[in-house]
Amino acid sequence: MPTILGIESTCDETAASVVVDGVRVLSNVIATQVELHARYRGVVPEIASRAHIENILPVLREGLRDAGIELNQLDAVAVAHRPGLIGSLLVGVTAAKTLAWAIGKPLIAVDHVQAHLYSVMLTETADSPAPPSPKFPAVGLVCSGGHTALYAVNSWRDVRLIGATIDDAVGEAYDKVAATLGLEYPGGPIIDRRASNGDPKRFRFPRTRLGRESLDFSFSGLKTAVLYHVKGVPGKPLREAPPDETEIDDIAAGFQAACVDVLVEKIKRAIREVGAKSVIVGGGVSANRGLRAALAGLHLPVHFPFVKYCTDNAAMCAGLAAVHLANGETAPLDLDAVTYSRIERSE
Ligand code: KG4
Ligand code: ZN
Repeated sequence: MPTILGIESTCDETAASVVVDGVRVLSNVIATQVELHARYRGVVPEIASRAHIENILPVLREGLRDAGIELNQLDAVAVAHRPGLIGSLLVGVTAAKTLAWAIGKPLIAVDHVQAHLYSVMLTETADSPAPPSPKFPAVGLVCSGGHTALYAVNSWRDVRLIGATIDDAVGEAYDKVAATLGLEYPGGPIIDRRASNGDPKRFRFPRTRLGRESLDFSFSGLKTAVLYHVKGVPGKPLREAPPDETEIDDIAAGFQAACVDVLVEKIKRAIREVGAKSVIVGGGVSANRGLRAALAGLHLPVHFPFVKYCTDNAAMCAGLAAVHLANGETAPLDLDAVTYSRIERSE
C-alpha cells in the first residue's frame, strides 16, 4: 500500500496530492493561476513559471498537511516531468528531485497525458469507494486546453497514440470562441453553461472529419467559422450589431454540438480500430456536460474522472506513479523536464 506524494506543474496549476495505493486520494491541493493569465486570455509561460516558484513550497506543505501525512511516511515522490511548458516543468521537477533526495525515497517520473487517462481511477474522497477499473483494450481520449488525442490503452503502462489534433486543441477552441463572444477566460465551463440554454440547431458550424478513416482532429476551421459569424466575413460588410444574449447562447450551443459530434465520431472510429471494451476520457474538456451526455449513448462503458480531476491536478500523477513503482520504474535524480509526451504514434 504505497503512500505517494505527487507534484504537478506542467502548465498553469501548481498542485500537490497524497494518494495511497494508487487510488485513494488523501489530499488534492491546486493553486490555480487563472487570474494571472485571464487578462491575456491564455497562459503566458514566463508568468506561469514565476508563479510556480512562489506557490510550490506552500502547496507541498498544504498537500501533506491536508493528508495528515509526515514526510517520513511517504514511500515515493512523483512528478509530471512531461509534456508541458519548460519553465513550469522545471519547478516541479526540481522540487520533486530535491525532496526525494532529502528523504531518501524513490523519485517517479510520470507523463502528464498518461496521468489524465489514469484520473478515472481516483476516489472522490479519502473514504469513498474506488471507481470501477476500465476493461482493456480501451480507447482513451485526452481533451484539454493543450491536448486533443486518442490512444489505444492496453494497460496503464501500454498506451499508444492513434490520433491527434493537427491544429488547435479542443479546449483552446473553447477558450478562443469564448473570447470572440466576449465571455470570460477560461471559456470552456462558460460555453458549456451557455450552450445548455441555447438552440444547437439555429446555427450549423462545420464538422472537420479529415477523411473517412482518420482519427486526427482539426478545430481551427470551426473556430474561424464562429469568428466570421460574430465579426463578419473579411471583404463583406460587417454585421451591424454584436450578438445579443440569446444569440450568444445559440452560438455556444451550435459550437458545442459541432465539437461533441466530432469527438464522438472519432471515438466510435477508434473503438472499431482498437476493438475496445471500454472508453476512458480525461482532461479539462472531459468535464463538459454535452460530451458526457453524448457519450452516455455509446454501447460500451465510458469512464470519466470526477469533475475535480478533469483539469490539471497532482492526484492523477501520484496515482499513476503507484503503477510505475509496482513495476520497479523509478527515475534517476538527474531526471529531465521534457516538453513533449512520451507516448508516440507507432505505425
Ligand atoms: O486539463 P486542463 O486543466 O489543462 C491542460 O492540460 O490543457 O484543461 C483546461 C481546458 C481549458 O481550455 C478549459 O476551457 C477547458 O479545459 N474546460 C472545458 C470545461 N471545463 C474546462 N471545456 C469545455 N467544457 C467544460 N465544462
Ligand atoms: Zn492537462
